[in-house]
Amino acid sequence: MKIMHVDASAKRERSNSRALSRYFLERLREEGMDIEVDYLDLTVDTPPHVSEAFTIATYTPSHERTAAMKATLAASDALCKRLLDADALVFAMPMYNWSMPSVFKAFIDSITRTGLTYLFTDDGHTEGQLARQRVLFITSRGADLRAGSPYSSMDALTPALKAAFGFIGVAAPSFVDAQPLQFSDEAARIEALERARTELTAVAANWAAWAKSQSASALDIHARQAVSA
Ligand SMILES: Cc1cc2nc3c(=O)[nH]c(=O)nc-3n(C[C@H](O)[C@H](O)[C@H](O)COP(=O)(O)O)c2cc1C
Repeated sequence: MKIMHVDASAKRERSNSRALSRYFLERLREEGMDIEVDYLDLTVDTPPHVSEAFTIATYTPSHERTAAMKATLAASDALCKRLLDADALVFAMPMYNWSMPSVFKAFIDSITRTGLTYLFTDDGHTEGQLARQRVLFITSRGADLRAGSPYSSMDALTPALKAAFGFIGVAAPSFVDAQPLQFSDEAARIEALERARTELTAVAANWAAWAKSQSASALDIHARQAVSA
Protein backbone atom coordinates (compact mmCIF):
# COMPACT_ATOMS: atom_id res chain seq x y z
CA MET A 1 0.00 0.00 0.00
CA LYS A 2 1.33 3.39 -1.01
CA ILE A 3 0.84 6.05 1.65
CA MET A 4 1.36 9.77 1.26
CA HIS A 5 2.38 11.11 4.68
CA VAL A 6 2.20 14.87 5.15
CA ASP A 7 3.36 16.84 8.21
CA ALA A 8 2.60 20.53 8.74
CA SER A 9 3.74 21.58 12.22
CA ALA A 10 6.18 24.48 12.54
CA LYS A 11 7.71 22.50 15.41
CA ARG A 12 10.07 19.65 14.70
CA GLU A 13 11.31 17.31 17.46
CA ARG A 14 8.90 18.92 19.96
CA SER A 15 5.86 18.46 17.71
CA ASN A 16 3.04 16.27 18.95
CA SER A 17 1.31 15.94 15.57
CA ARG A 18 4.56 14.77 13.95
CA ALA A 19 5.10 12.23 16.74
CA LEU A 20 1.53 10.95 16.38
CA SER A 21 1.78 10.56 12.61
CA ARG A 22 5.04 8.57 13.05
CA TYR A 23 3.29 6.48 15.71
CA PHE A 24 0.46 5.69 13.27
CA LEU A 25 2.85 4.49 10.55
CA GLU A 26 4.64 2.30 13.13
CA ARG A 27 1.29 0.74 14.09
CA LEU A 28 0.57 -0.03 10.41
CA ARG A 29 3.94 -1.78 10.12
CA GLU A 30 3.24 -3.69 13.34
CA GLU A 31 -0.04 -4.82 11.80
CA GLY A 32 2.08 -6.46 9.11
CA MET A 33 1.15 -4.00 6.38
CA ASP A 34 3.55 -3.67 3.48
CA ILE A 35 3.68 0.10 3.11
CA GLU A 36 5.60 2.41 0.83
CA VAL A 37 5.70 5.97 2.18
CA ASP A 38 5.82 9.14 0.09
CA TYR A 39 6.73 11.80 2.68
CA LEU A 40 6.07 15.52 2.40
CA ASP A 41 7.05 18.07 5.04
CA LEU A 42 5.04 21.17 4.17
CA THR A 43 7.26 23.42 6.29
CA VAL A 44 10.21 22.46 4.08
CA ASP A 45 8.46 22.08 0.70
CA THR A 46 5.79 24.74 1.08
CA PRO A 47 3.53 25.17 -1.95
CA PRO A 48 3.40 28.77 -3.18
CA HIS A 49 0.47 31.05 -2.42
CA VAL A 50 -2.09 31.37 -5.19
CA SER A 51 -0.78 33.95 -7.69
CA GLU A 52 -2.57 35.79 -10.49
CA ALA A 53 -0.70 33.65 -13.04
CA PHE A 54 -1.92 30.50 -11.25
CA THR A 55 -5.56 31.64 -11.26
CA ILE A 56 -5.41 32.26 -15.02
CA ALA A 57 -3.53 29.07 -15.86
CA THR A 58 -5.63 26.74 -13.72
CA TYR A 59 -8.92 27.83 -15.33
CA THR A 60 -7.56 27.78 -18.90
CA PRO A 61 -8.51 24.47 -20.60
CA SER A 62 -5.42 22.24 -20.65
CA HIS A 63 -5.23 22.11 -24.48
CA GLU A 64 -5.15 25.93 -24.63
CA ARG A 65 -2.38 26.47 -22.05
CA THR A 66 0.80 28.23 -23.12
CA ALA A 67 4.24 26.95 -22.15
CA ALA A 68 4.37 29.64 -19.44
CA MET A 69 1.01 28.52 -18.02
CA LYS A 70 2.17 24.91 -17.99
CA ALA A 71 5.30 25.95 -16.14
CA THR A 72 3.18 27.88 -13.59
CA LEU A 73 1.13 24.74 -12.91
CA ALA A 74 3.96 22.20 -12.99
CA ALA A 75 4.52 21.92 -9.22
CA SER A 76 0.78 21.72 -8.54
CA ASP A 77 0.40 19.05 -11.28
CA ALA A 78 3.15 17.02 -9.60
CA LEU A 79 1.52 17.31 -6.15
CA CYS A 80 -1.85 16.19 -7.55
CA LYS A 81 -0.16 13.18 -9.15
CA ARG A 82 1.40 12.20 -5.81
CA LEU A 83 -2.04 12.28 -4.17
CA LEU A 84 -3.76 10.39 -6.96
CA ASP A 85 -1.01 7.72 -7.01
CA ALA A 86 -1.37 7.04 -3.28
CA ASP A 87 -3.73 4.43 -1.85
CA ALA A 88 -3.98 6.25 1.46
CA LEU A 89 -3.26 9.72 2.82
CA VAL A 90 -2.10 10.64 6.33
CA PHE A 91 -2.23 14.35 7.13
CA ALA A 92 -0.90 15.59 10.47
CA MET A 93 -1.20 19.19 11.65
CA PRO A 94 -1.63 21.43 14.67
CA MET A 95 -4.58 23.76 15.05
CA TYR A 96 -3.43 27.38 14.58
CA ASN A 97 -5.90 30.12 15.46
CA TRP A 98 -8.84 27.72 15.31
CA SER A 99 -8.06 26.49 11.81
CA MET A 100 -5.25 24.89 9.80
CA PRO A 101 -1.60 25.99 9.49
CA SER A 102 -1.17 28.29 6.48
CA VAL A 103 1.23 25.79 4.84
CA PHE A 104 -1.59 23.24 4.80
CA LYS A 105 -3.98 25.79 3.29
CA ALA A 106 -1.38 26.47 0.57
CA PHE A 107 -1.26 22.69 0.01
CA ILE A 108 -5.07 22.55 -0.42
CA ASP A 109 -4.88 25.47 -2.88
CA SER A 110 -2.31 23.50 -4.89
CA ILE A 111 -4.16 20.18 -4.98
CA THR A 112 -7.69 21.38 -5.72
CA ARG A 113 -7.42 21.31 -9.51
CA THR A 114 -10.01 21.19 -12.27
CA GLY A 115 -9.32 18.26 -14.59
CA LEU A 116 -7.03 16.55 -12.08
CA THR A 117 -8.45 16.12 -8.57
CA TYR A 118 -11.99 17.01 -9.64
CA LEU A 119 -13.79 16.85 -12.96
CA PHE A 120 -16.84 18.61 -14.33
CA THR A 121 -19.54 16.12 -15.32
CA ASP A 122 -21.81 16.52 -18.37
CA ASP A 123 -24.74 17.51 -16.13
CA GLY A 124 -22.78 20.44 -14.68
CA HIS A 125 -21.77 18.84 -11.39
CA THR A 126 -18.28 18.12 -10.13
CA GLU A 127 -16.81 14.73 -9.35
CA GLY A 128 -13.93 14.41 -6.90
CA GLN A 129 -11.18 12.04 -7.98
CA LEU A 130 -9.90 10.96 -4.56
CA ALA A 131 -12.76 8.57 -3.76
CA ARG A 132 -10.41 5.54 -3.82
CA GLN A 133 -8.03 6.76 -1.11
CA ARG A 134 -8.35 6.10 2.61
CA VAL A 135 -7.71 9.32 4.48
CA LEU A 136 -6.68 10.08 8.07
CA PHE A 137 -6.34 13.53 9.62
CA ILE A 138 -4.33 13.74 12.83
CA THR A 139 -4.76 17.11 14.51
CA SER A 140 -3.24 18.48 17.71
CA ARG A 141 -4.87 21.26 19.69
CA GLY A 142 -3.83 23.30 22.71
CA ALA A 143 -7.40 23.63 24.00
CA ASP A 144 -10.07 20.99 24.44
CA LEU A 145 -12.64 21.47 21.67
CA ARG A 146 -14.59 18.29 22.26
CA ALA A 147 -18.40 18.45 22.53
CA GLY A 148 -19.39 19.97 25.84
CA SER A 149 -16.24 22.06 26.21
CA PRO A 150 -16.61 25.89 26.15
CA TYR A 151 -14.30 25.91 23.08
CA SER A 152 -16.27 23.34 21.04
CA SER A 153 -17.91 25.98 18.82
CA MET A 154 -14.46 27.38 17.88
CA ASP A 155 -13.43 24.38 15.76
CA ALA A 156 -13.03 25.87 12.27
CA LEU A 157 -10.44 23.20 11.40
CA THR A 158 -12.56 20.03 11.12
CA PRO A 159 -15.30 21.54 8.89
CA ALA A 160 -12.71 23.22 6.64
CA LEU A 161 -10.85 19.92 6.11
CA LYS A 162 -14.10 18.00 5.51
CA ALA A 163 -15.29 20.56 2.93
CA ALA A 164 -12.01 20.88 1.04
CA PHE A 165 -11.37 17.15 0.83
CA GLY A 166 -15.05 16.25 0.34
CA PHE A 167 -14.97 18.40 -2.80
CA ILE A 168 -12.11 16.34 -4.26
CA GLY A 169 -13.86 13.06 -3.47
CA VAL A 170 -12.90 12.12 0.10
CA ALA A 171 -16.28 11.11 1.51
CA ALA A 172 -15.47 9.59 4.90
CA PRO A 173 -12.09 10.62 6.29
CA SER A 174 -11.04 9.52 9.79
CA PHE A 175 -10.09 12.13 12.38
CA VAL A 176 -7.91 11.63 15.43
CA ASP A 177 -7.76 14.88 17.41
CA ALA A 178 -5.30 15.09 20.29
CA GLN A 179 -6.62 17.65 22.80
CA PRO A 180 -6.00 19.44 25.13
CA LEU A 181 -2.23 19.51 24.70
CA GLN A 182 -1.36 22.98 25.94
CA PHE A 183 -4.06 24.88 27.83
CA SER A 184 -4.47 22.24 30.54
CA ASP A 185 -2.66 20.51 33.38
CA GLU A 186 -0.07 17.81 32.77
CA ALA A 187 -2.40 14.92 33.64
CA ALA A 188 -4.93 16.06 31.02
CA ARG A 189 -2.14 16.38 28.42
CA ILE A 190 -0.85 12.87 29.11
CA GLU A 191 -4.39 11.50 28.96
CA ALA A 192 -5.06 13.33 25.66
CA LEU A 193 -1.96 11.82 24.02
CA GLU A 194 -2.84 8.37 25.33
CA ARG A 195 -6.39 8.71 23.97
CA ALA A 196 -5.03 9.77 20.56
CA ARG A 197 -2.59 6.82 20.46
CA THR A 198 -5.44 4.40 21.34
CA GLU A 199 -7.57 5.84 18.53
CA LEU A 200 -4.64 5.66 16.07
CA THR A 201 -4.05 2.01 16.98
CA ALA A 202 -7.71 1.28 16.19
CA VAL A 203 -7.51 3.11 12.83
CA ALA A 204 -4.33 1.16 11.97
CA ALA A 205 -6.08 -2.15 12.74
CA ASN A 206 -8.99 -1.06 10.57
CA TRP A 207 -6.73 -0.13 7.62
CA ALA A 208 -4.85 -3.42 7.96
CA ALA A 209 -8.11 -5.44 7.91
CA TRP A 210 -9.23 -3.48 4.85
CA ALA A 211 -5.89 -4.08 3.06
CA LYS A 212 -6.15 -7.82 3.79
CA SER A 213 -9.69 -7.98 2.43
CA GLN A 214 -8.57 -6.10 -0.70
CA SER A 215 -5.73 -8.51 -1.38
CA ALA A 216 -8.00 -11.52 -0.61
CA SER A 217 -10.58 -10.34 -3.16
CA ALA A 218 -7.80 -9.62 -5.70
CA LEU A 219 -6.56 -13.21 -5.24
CA ASP A 220 -10.12 -14.51 -5.58
CA ILE A 221 -10.63 -12.64 -8.88
CA HIS A 222 -7.27 -13.93 -10.11
CA ALA A 223 -8.20 -17.53 -9.19
CA ARG A 224 -11.59 -17.27 -10.93
CA GLN A 225 -9.94 -15.85 -14.05
CA ALA A 226 -7.45 -18.77 -14.02
CA VAL A 227 -10.32 -21.32 -13.76
CA SER A 228 -12.35 -19.78 -16.58
CA ALA A 229 -9.30 -19.44 -18.90
C1 LIG B 1 0.61 30.08 16.36
C2 LIG B 1 -0.18 29.11 17.20
C3 LIG B 1 -1.56 29.22 17.23
C4 LIG B 1 -2.31 28.32 17.98
N1 LIG B 1 -3.67 28.42 17.97
C5 LIG B 1 -4.40 27.53 18.66
C6 LIG B 1 -5.83 27.60 18.66
O1 LIG B 1 -6.44 28.42 18.00
N2 LIG B 1 -6.52 26.68 19.37
C7 LIG B 1 -5.89 25.70 20.08
O2 LIG B 1 -6.56 24.87 20.69
N3 LIG B 1 -4.53 25.61 20.12
C8 LIG B 1 -3.78 26.49 19.42
N4 LIG B 1 -2.42 26.40 19.44
C9 LIG B 1 -1.77 25.30 20.19
C10 LIG B 1 -1.39 24.13 19.28
O3 LIG B 1 -2.46 23.74 18.45
C11 LIG B 1 -0.97 22.94 20.13
O4 LIG B 1 0.10 23.30 20.96
C12 LIG B 1 -0.60 21.73 19.30
O5 LIG B 1 -0.40 20.63 20.14
C13 LIG B 1 0.67 21.98 18.48
O6 LIG B 1 0.93 20.84 17.68
P1 LIG B 1 2.43 20.44 17.34
O7 LIG B 1 3.04 20.01 18.65
O8 LIG B 1 2.34 19.33 16.36
O9 LIG B 1 3.09 21.66 16.77
C14 LIG B 1 -1.65 27.30 18.71
C15 LIG B 1 -0.26 27.21 18.68
C16 LIG B 1 0.47 28.10 17.93
C17 LIG B 1 1.98 27.98 17.90
